[in-house]
Amino acid sequence: MSIGDRQRRAPQGVEPVDHFEINGGNRLRGAVTIGGAKNAALPIMAASILCEGETILHNVPDLQDVRQLLVLLNRLGVKSEREAGGALHLRVEDEMNCHAPYELVSKMRASICVLGPLLAKRRRAQVSMPGGCAIGDRPVNLHIQGMEALGADSELVNGDILLKAKKLQGAEMFLGGPFGSTVTGTANVLMAATLAEGRTVIESAACEPEVSDLAEFLNACGAQITGHGTPRVTVDGVASLSGTEHTVIPDRIEAGTFMIAAAITNGELELTNCRLEHLLAVVDRLRRVGVNIERGEKGVTVASSRRLEPVDVTTQAYPGFPTDLQAQTMALLCLADGNSVITEKIFPDRFLHVAELNRMGAHLRKEGPTVIVQGVKKLVGAPVMASDLRASAALVLAGLIAKGTTRVHRVYHIDRGYERIEEKLASVGAEVRRVSE
Ligand code: EPZ
Repeated sequence: MSIGDRQRRAPQGVEPVDHFEINGGNRLRGAVTIGGAKNAALPIMAASILCEGETILHNVPDLQDVRQLLVLLNRLGVKSEREAGGALHLRVEDEMNCHAPYELVSKMRASICVLGPLLAKRRRAQVSMPGGCAIGDRPVNLHIQGMEALGADSELVNGDILLKAKKLQGAEMFLGGPFGSTVTGTANVLMAATLAEGRTVIESAACEPEVSDLAEFLNACGAQITGHGTPRVTVDGVASLSGTEHTVIPDRIEAGTFMIAAAITNGELELTNCRLEHLLAVVDRLRRVGVNIERGEKGVTVASSRRLEPVDVTTQAYPGFPTDLQAQTMALLCLADGNSVITEKIFPDRFLHVAELNRMGAHLRKEGPTVIVQGVKKLVGAPVMASDLRASAALVLAGLIAKGTTRVHRVYHIDRGYERIEEKLASVGAEVRRVSE
């Protein structure tokens, strides 16, 4: 029964709360197809606000966050239709509404990605300021700074960011913050600059593949963007953009999660629809742990058959080690033969999984933005609580190798970013099932 069905079955207003029940110990074997990238699909869907005509997107994952953004886009006058299990069709039908309200934005932070498109196309954007987040402090000052550099007036109205501009003017700007570049901040400025007059140059732009995929999409719609994928991006404004057909890139974070699933179970997986070139920092660390990762005929093969070596990991902006794989890598290193040090440089407080992993018998000691991982011989099954998307993935991975049964509660966190992960894991030998509470 799909999540959608279950939601339809749940009594009105009652969110069905599931947990995963995992019996650990099985070595994973087989092939897994990686889905489309959530963090590319979301800004690209928001960019449809900029376009005349129809936008058709392929490889958009069927995730809670995608469904949530569609609710917001519909509210903003963008009609959406999804072919059964297939392409997503988006078309702007009404440009009156420019307000993304608290009750929608508070459900999903990435809703902030409508800020730039609304301002650029409708010259007005009122978007609820995203609130607190389990992974730490996440201000959006750089997003606003970028819009102001393009000539927008900004103010905070009852918790909403209100931006207005008679016209947008291209500008040179530095978009780096205390933790380096900003991914959705770069995406927002990129989208707004496409319809600004003149040239915009973004220094310290995020280089993530998801930002490059957005730029490729916008260029296919008629934008003039160069330098994407590097810290210096140039946008020459155009008068208008037209909808196009685009295939979203594979999800490197889902792929990395399955690489670690193979490694933690001493298994062997073939990942299809996986772009190894987007994961070089991850592959480098996993190979040092002792995992074999090769390009195979149909995809990427990942195999591990011996003891795991300890390594140190420091998260950085792309092409460095992704913060979105920090928790999953910590779960793996819990079983390494020695001590590893994990340093979180992007979200220094992103460690809610530490206490839960310790409940499973891990030896983790947190010191500021660093965790000392003392390797143990085994983990034991326990009831644990998911707190955010990637922390929940780490708990599921730990459950795959733990002795006995692990129950991961609040898996709605994992449904936000992984499409039917329990079915994919079960298809390669994991003993995992979704249980409705
Ligand atoms: C994106 O979030 C991703 N989300 C996150 O993935 C990911 O963890 C993050 O980039 C870093 O890679 C989406 O793409 C939807 P940032 P984003 O702005 O754009 C600070 C997941 O699990 N900052 O690059 O919100 C910020 O506090 C999610 O899929 C400012 O100071 O992250 C952080 O320390 C979780 N001011 C750093 O920059 C700003 O205006 C990087 O944040 C913006 C950010």
